[in-house]
Amino acid sequence: MEVLELFLSAVMAAAFCLSPSLVHAQDQSGFISIDCGITEGSSYNDKITGLRYISDENYTDAGVNKDISPKINKTDIDKQYLNLRSFPDGNKICYTLKPLRSKNKYLIRAGFLYGNYDELDDVPRFDLYLGVNWWATVTLFDASDRFTTEIVHLLSSDSIDICLVNTGFGTPFISVLELRLLDDKTHSNVSQLVFDRLGLALSDSIRFSVDVYDRIWSPFPFQYWEVKQTRYAIKSPDDDKNGVPNAIMQGAAVPINQSDAIVFYFSRDDPTTQFFLYMHFAEIENLPQNQTREFNIYVNKTLWSGPIVPKYLQRTTVSSISPLKGTDFTVSINKTINSTLPPLLNAIEIYLVHELLQAETYEDDVHAVMNIKSYYKVKRYWQGDPCGPKTARWQGLNCSYDAYDPPRIISLDLSSSGLTGEISPDVLNLKMIKYLDLSNNSLRGSIPDFLSRLPYLRVLNLSENDFSGSVPSELNERSKNGTLILNVEKNKLLCSSDCKNKAIVPVVATVIPVLILVLIAVAVFWFCKRRNQGMVNNSFICMA
Ligand SMILES: *[C@@H]1O[C@H](CO)[C@@H](O)[C@H](O)[C@H]1NC(C)=O
Ligand SMILES: *[C@@H]1O[C@H](CO)[C@@H](O)[C@H](O)[C@H]1NC(C)=O
Ligand SMILES: *[C@@H]1O[C@H](CO)[C@@H](O)[C@H](O)[C@H]1NC(C)=O
Ligand SMILES: *[C@@H]1O[C@H](CO)[C@@H](O)[C@H](O)[C@H]1NC(C)=O
Ligand SMILES: *[C@@H]1O[C@H](CO)[C@@H](O)[C@H](O)[C@H]1NC(C)=O
Ligand SMILES: *[C@@H]1O[C@H](CO)[C@@H](O)[C@H](O)[C@H]1NC(C)=O
Ligand SMILES: *[C@@H]1O[C@H](CO)[C@@H](O)[C@H](O)[C@H]1NC(C)=O
Ligand SMILES: *[C@@H]1O[C@H](CO)[C@@H](O)[C@H](O)[C@H]1NC(C)=O
Ligand SMILES: *[C@@H]1O[C@H](CO)[C@@H](O)[C@H](O)[C@H]1NC(C)=O
Ligand SMILES: *[C@@H]1O[C@H](CO)[C@@H](O)[C@H](O)[C@H]1NC(C)=O
Ligand SMILES: *[C@@H]1O[C@H](CO)[C@@H](O)[C@H](O)[C@H]1NC(C)=O
Ligand SMILES: *[C@@H]1O[C@H](CO)[C@@H](O)[C@H](O)[C@H]1NC(C)=O
Repeated sequence: MEVLELFLSAVMAAAFCLSPSLVHAQDQSGFISIDCGITEGSSYNDKITGLRYISDENYTDAGVNKDISPKINKTDIDKQYLNLRSFPDGNKICYTLKPLRSKNKYLIRAGFLYGNYDELDDVPRFDLYLGVNWWATVTLFDASDRFTTEIVHLLSSDSIDICLVNTGFGTPFISVLELRLLDDKTHSNVSQLVFDRLGLALSDSIRFSVDVYDRIWSPFPFQYWEVKQTRYAIKSPDDDKNGVPNAIMQGAAVPINQSDAIVFYFSRDDPTTQFFLYMHFAEIENLPQNQTREFNIYVNKTLWSGPIVPKYLQRTTVSSISPLKGTDFTVSINKTINSTLPPLLNAIEIYLVHELLQAETYEDDVHAVMNIKSYYKVKRYWQGDPCGPKTARWQGLNCSYDAYDPPRIISLDLSSSGLTGEISPDVLNLKMIKYLDLSNNSLRGSIPDFLSRLPYLRVLNLSENDFSGSVPSELNERSKNGTLILNVEKNKLLCSSDCKNKAIVPVVATVIPVLILVLIAVAVFWFCKRRNQGMVNNSFICMA
């Protein structure tokens, strides 16, 4: 008995050898194909797939375009991987993709090939995030290695951020980013990473336009299998028209030894792993009356499904309703006692449950800080979600994190940031803020009263600005009774405390001395005039 081994990793590293004859003009609506690192105006139709790739310039304003090193052998490298966008600055860089269709499922695929573009021979490692949730760690073995990862994700809004996070192991970059709108009502709604997608009779990988959703199906050559093909179309179940391309279902693998079972296993190190397994069957031989093909499917020796009699030229899909929990599984497809023929298998799909539990920042806080960002034209890498992920929140921001509740912004430090204008009214919408530092900028106008309406504010630093007027009395009171640390130093035009009294004092203080000076001058004048009448020599004092 021979066993089909799936050496499984979420990474699909095989090169795709696609035949140019597959190119057809096909509907690409619902697709976004971005070749990162090409300039705007260099959009092109891929020669092999016919897919239209566009530049990433409309999706990010960060990073620099690079080509992989001329020393790399480019023979087996797809065009999309010959250039990339690299992000030397900023701890988190995001591609914001919109408008997309909310409440729809998308297949999102990201690809990376380092290609020694910086001639440093230093393969970087960094994290990929889907919004605020960790998606994958981009791990490459060498300069020519390619890393791709695919996720099937149900969107909750009309946009999505795909972010690269610098974790201190080199400069993040990206080569290609692809989104495909799926019309998929049969699979679970939980986000799933694509683990493997195999067409057992394939000799080469196929994708668009054979697969209308541009899923990539890989071959799985195995010497103890015999491949059987039909030229007739395979009928799909009515509720799953595009579940598997016809071209995949038209071929099946059958054990060469009639008494063998089909056995394969898959495993993954992570003990929290949950697999979704889909197996697709269709009889492709028109069997005579006295022949039957009937089999059972066992997962780890437990009957999982069966007996199954695949129908002639019709697809039967067997899948689990709930995921398989565990690190490794053996699947065995055994013919039943009455079956005269060995089992067959056309295609397998294996997905990993990828729970995206971390919530995005509280919506009102996001709006407020976005408005503050555009009001001051903040020149920082403030991209994606302000608070998430925790390790890569916006520089100058701190947030409160409470399990999986939406994080709240509790601190904003925009000191020494070249801010001009007045205090943005959106500050008032950061309801949970405790610490606000706007010191050492060129802010002007009066200090707004609304700052005293921020109930949790404990530190307010407005020093070294050009504020004028007076400090609102409630802020002063809070500062005096110790509930607020207030710093308004070095604002030349600002009256910082007791302004009502001071407003009168300067008038008195300036009027009285002037009066006194005038009186003295008059007195001196009279005195001199009288003295001059008698003592001419002393004119020196009085003529000045
Ligand atoms: C980028 O946006 C501009 C303006 O909306 C548009 O004209 C252009 O076609 C877009 N380019 C790409 C590559 O999407
Ligand atoms: C590049 O790779 C191809 C296929 O892998 C090989 O046939 C070719 O000889 C290589 N070229 C060089 C210059 O190494
Ligand atoms: C999946 O999500 C869609 C859109 O939110 C919803 O209509 C559908 O009922 C959900 N299906 C399942 C199985 O939860
Ligand atoms: C087929 O498998 C059976 C049981 O594993 C074995 O006894 C038999 O020799 C095999 N036949 C061939 C032709 O390999
Ligand atoms: C099935 O019937 C055909 C003739 O119709 C015969 O040649 C064949 O040996 C039979 N096969 C089996 C397994 O009985
Ligand atoms: C399935 O079987 C394999 C090998 O027999 C075993 O190592 C593994 O733990 C089993 N998995 C589960 C989830 O029971
Ligand atoms: C199914 O076939 C495999 C491989 O021949 C064998 O190890 C296993 O015991 C069989 N299972 C059953 C329930 O017959
Ligand atoms: C096998 O076939 C016999 C005769 O047709 C039938 O009586 C029996 O129930 C079948 N066994 C199974 C497991 O289907
Ligand atoms: C952010 O806030 C948390 C919770 O108040 C605090 O423990 C942490 O030290 C703060 N981090 C920074 C960098 O200020
Ligand atoms: C104030 O900002 C300027 C540049 O805007 C900087 O050079 C200076 O060091 C800052 N002073 C303090 C005290 O942070
Ligand atoms: C306020 O900002 C100034 C200048 O940036 C700094 O020197 C001072 O320590 C800050 N004061 C408080 C209370 O945070
Ligand atoms: C401090 O002053 C503020 C503003 O007048 C007032 O709301 C608050 O209750 C005072 N707190 C204490 C502890 O006195």
